[in-house]
Amino acid sequence: MPLIAPSILSADLLRLREQIDAVERAGADWIHLDVMDGRFVPNITFGPLMLKAVRHVTALPLDAHLMIVEPERYLRVFREAGADIITVHLEACPHLQHVVHMIKELGAKAGVAINPATPVELVGDILGDIDLLLVMSVNPGFGGQEFIHHATVKIQDAAGLRKNLGGGAPLIEVDGGISVETIGPVCAAGADVIVAGNAVFGHGDPAANLHELKRMAASSLTTA
Ligand code: DX5
Ligand code: ZN
Repeated sequence: MPLIAPSILSADLLRLREQIDAVERAGADWIHLDVMDGRFVPNITFGPLMLKAVRHVTALPLDAHLMIVEPERYLRVFREAGADIITVHLEACPHLQHVVHMIKELGAKAGVAINPATPVELVGDILGDIDLLLVMSVNPGFGGQEFIHHATVKIQDAAGLRKNLGGGAPLIEVDGGISVETIGPVCAAGADVIVAGNAVFGHGDPAANLHELKRMAASSLTTA
C-alpha cells in the first residue's frame, strides 16, 4: 500500500497538535512540511522552527519539502530540527549530486523534486543516488490547486527508469492536487508516497478524509 503524507500547509495552525494527532491515529505514514521562501516559489510558509515544533508532537517521519533557492545553506538546520527526509528541487540545484550527498552525510534520506515542466529523464543520472523522487503534480507554491494529469505519465516513466536500475529505490512520491478522484490513478501508475494537503485538512474531519483517501488508494490497486 502506498504511504500517505498529509501536508500541514492546509492544516489549522492554531490546532496543529490536535490535527496531527488525528491524522496519526487515522493511519498517516509521514507528515509533509512545505517550506517556501518567496523566491523559488511565490509563497512564503515556515522554516525550521515549525519542523522542531512538529517534531515534539509526533514520532512519524517528517518529510521536509524545500521549495527554496540555495537549499544547501539550510540542510543542517532542517536536519537538526528533526527532518527525516529532505527533498530539494532539481530546478534549484546546479550541483544536485553534491547536495544529495550533503543530505545523506547529515543522516537524512535524500529526495529530489521535479516541477511539472521538468522531464523525468533529467533525473536519470541521479536516480541511483537518491531515496525519493518527488513528482510535482502542480506548480509548487500553494495548496488546493488542480491536479496536472500528465504527472501520472511521469510517475509511470519514473517507475520504468527505476526498474532499469534493478532496485526498490528510490521511492516515488507525488504532490499536488491529490483528491479522492486523483489518488487512484497515481497509485495505479506506481506512486509509493502520496502527499495530500487540502484533501485531508481543507474541509470536514481530517481523520475521515484520510480514511477515504486510503480506501480509494486500496481499491485502485485491487482493481488495477
Ligand atoms: C504545493 C505543496 C504541496 C501542497 C499540496 O506547493 O508542495 O505539498 O501542500 O497541497 P494540495 O494537496 O492541497 O494540492
Ligand atoms: Zn509539498
